[in-house]
Amino acid sequence: MSQDKGNFQWWQRGVVYQIYPRSFKDTTANGVGDLQGIIEKLDYLNDGSPDSLAVDAIWISPFYPSPMVDFGYDVSDYCDVDPLFGDLATFDRLVAEAHRRNMKVIIDWVPNHTSDQHPWFVESRRSRENPKREWYIWRDPKPDGSPPNNWGSFFGGPAWTLDTETGQYYLHQFVPEQPDLNWRNPEVRDAMFETLRYWLDRGVDGFRMDVIGLIIKDEQLRDNPPDPDALPDLPKNDLFHRLLQVYNMDQDEVHEVLKEIRRVLDAYEERVAIGELWGPLPRWIKYYGEDGDELHLPFNFRLMRQPWQAKAMRQSVDELETALPGFAWPNYVLGNHDIPRLVSRFGGQVQARVAAMMLLTLRGTPTLYYGDELGMENGVIPPDKIQDPQGINLGPEWSRDVARTPMQWDDGSYAAFSTVEPWLPVSADYQSQNVASQSADPTSMLNLYRRLLRYRRSSPALQWGRYLPLDVEEDCFVYLREVDGERRLVALNFVDEARHLSIPGEAWGRVVLSTHLDREELVDLSRLQLRPYEGIIVEL
Ligand code: GLC
Repeated sequence: MSQDKGNFQWWQRGVVYQIYPRSFKDTTANGVGDLQGIIEKLDYLNDGSPDSLAVDAIWISPFYPSPMVDFGYDVSDYCDVDPLFGDLATFDRLVAEAHRRNMKVIIDWVPNHTSDQHPWFVESRRSRENPKREWYIWRDPKPDGSPPNNWGSFFGGPAWTLDTETGQYYLHQFVPEQPDLNWRNPEVRDAMFETLRYWLDRGVDGFRMDVIGLIIKDEQLRDNPPDPDALPDLPKNDLFHRLLQVYNMDQDEVHEVLKEIRRVLDAYEERVAIGELWGPLPRWIKYYGEDGDELHLPFNFRLMRQPWQAKAMRQSVDELETALPGFAWPNYVLGNHDIPRLVSRFGGQVQARVAAMMLLTLRGTPTLYYGDELGMENGVIPPDKIQDPQGINLGPEWSRDVARTPMQWDDGSYAAFSTVEPWLPVSADYQSQNVASQSADPTSMLNLYRRLLRYRRSSPALQWGRYLPLDVEEDCFVYLREVDGERRLVALNFVDEARHLSIPGEAWGRVVLSTHLDREELVDLSRLQLRPYEGIIVEL
């Protein structure tokens, strides 16, 4: 069947770019990024010319009013903008300016929990009889006074906090300042659906739904069983990773809620539902719905967790390709605000170049994380400067601050992110890893990303063609992408030594892009040479 562009939605063809607003661009000289900063940098993301990154959508992490205990993932009002980031008028301008540049705007939606300062929770904790009591999950202590079950918080300690005034515990799967909403209560659902409509009416093109698999818990709140494979050296207060997450996530009933959420979005045109999900593949895949009526894109973090090995990456991709039903569209993520920077994780700049080519040539929607296009590395945060509650509670090695340092615009003071000391220190590498210097260097990481994105846009095979892996050489991940006679070969060398490949059944091809950005040539595919850590795209 011939498939033209018309058969594919923007969120299938396009590339998403994640912005962590605290760290993108500060225009108010307070050391924290803001919405106006994003507006000022939209041209960098897509100014309509092929020389900008020209991404298709931005996803903005939370900018709602918040006490910022978890930097915006503790929301105290779902329908406003925190003054730190701007106001609603600025948000509206941001949407208009992004749309003018043909970029969609996806916002974060945090349905599992609110801030403890949210008026709903302030009410709820007032008394056992309060009309909002059942909006959260309150339970009596066990007879010995201990918490109602053994669940741990993701950020250390138990998932329950006792409210001494009313004598009951409330559930919070993150910090105590993030009480979990009770999604079994229809009033909560209605109120939360209203918050979706509020932003849809303002013109947002979709949502990234935070820890969506957690919103429904086991009705009886049973104890989670111990995890026999738990790491032996977990921090003492890490109760969470000692247990298997059986009763607190991925409950069957969550799929009913997801279908309702989809119906809210489907009342509008071309909106996308993306969800943050961490469970194993059989549980994860269910979030597409039985016939595509739940999430469009349950985030796929599998590649991020693989060792730097061609075989492991290929296995992960093949597993996904085999498991996905026909209606389900794949997607890949290699970095975000919760895990160490991809350069630091995969071993270095050369590996990161190969990773970039892989991410932008596999079948499925890629999500990029701000700064990865510069090869930004993990920030070094002195222990007394740690901000992240996970790092504060579980220890510095768990801090997610390393991946949240300010965007590096040029080699001036504070990397031109801000005119004052930023909320997290600028990375030491900013003098070489910054937008200005990398723009001027034709072989920089930034120019590799720009070239890859530009090439991807020009190639239907890369955007929506079939994926066919080839068994050629253990250390290389090699695949074809093809559609309607357009055929592209991608060959990625994962090791620090040259490799010679013989592509079965192929004679000549043209290398159009190398991760080293230094060759475009006709090649003999029976003796295709890849240099150490080189990835190439070949037109067949
Ligand atoms: C998600 C977010 C993370 C946040 C947590 C609690 O995992 O990505 O940053 O801390 O949810 O909302």
